[in-house]
Amino acid sequence: MQIFGVDIGGSGIKGAPVDLDRGDLAQERFKVLTPHPATPAGVADGVKEVVDHFGWSGPVGLTFPGVVTGGAMVRTAANVDQSWIDTDARALFAERLGGLPVTVVNDADAAGVAEMRYGAGKDRRGTVIVLTFGTGIGSAVFTDGALVANTELGHLELQGHDAEKRASSKAKDDHDLSWEQWARRVRKYLAHVEMLFSPELFIIGGGVSRKSHKFLHLIEGIRADIVPAQLQNNAGIVGAAMRAAARS
Ligand code: BGC
Repeated sequence: MQIFGVDIGGSGIKGAPVDLDRGDLAQERFKVLTPHPATPAGVADGVKEVVDHFGWSGPVGLTFPGVVTGGAMVRTAANVDQSWIDTDARALFAERLGGLPVTVVNDADAAGVAEMRYGAGKDRRGTVIVLTFGTGIGSAVFTDGALVANTELGHLELQGHDAEKRASSKAKDDHDLSWEQWARRVRKYLAHVEMLFSPELFIIGGGVSRKSHKFLHLIEGIRADIVPAQLQNNAGIVGAAMRAAARS
């Protein structure tokens, strides 16, 4: 079965039809730049351009980088325009896409469900936590394969700060940190999450997971296994399509 997946990020809006039997993109993805400011109307135009590129006319799953309840309502917007808060994103995108069935899901939850089904979390039971390191830190918490949605662990307090402001990959760039310096912050962050949840496994996702050889070996003293995500750039698109399939 194929469903369309769209990943809405701070820099780009990317999408493709997803082959859910293989857990992979059915065609090469298409990307447009995220407008700035990333207002609901501007983002909806970008989403339409991506979906129209493929002439798609079936169900569409979309990620959003904030809390999303019921596949529709945006509740937080830490790194996008504040006007998203309390927007019915499902209604917005459905209207812009000419009435296609739409499901919206938190970006890290989407990446997490894709990793659990097709990637680094496949067949893993117990508590598994997927963390995406990018502009912010996203989290997806699973217990025996079931998702606890919208956990927002990127906003835990770390040494008096919002954790993602200290340990996201944007924080590494903003503060000009070496891999060693950044890994120390990530280690402290993982220790804090481990103290709260005692997971068996951490899966490290987001763009930086491509460079896991530069920092994973620097993170010591964590009891849980720590592995890089396997779907990398496409996890959000695949997970969004999975959520749309589950709801349609
Ligand atoms: C948001 C999360 C999102 C994460 C990654 C955080 O700032 O609050 O909802 O999953 O960034 O984009």
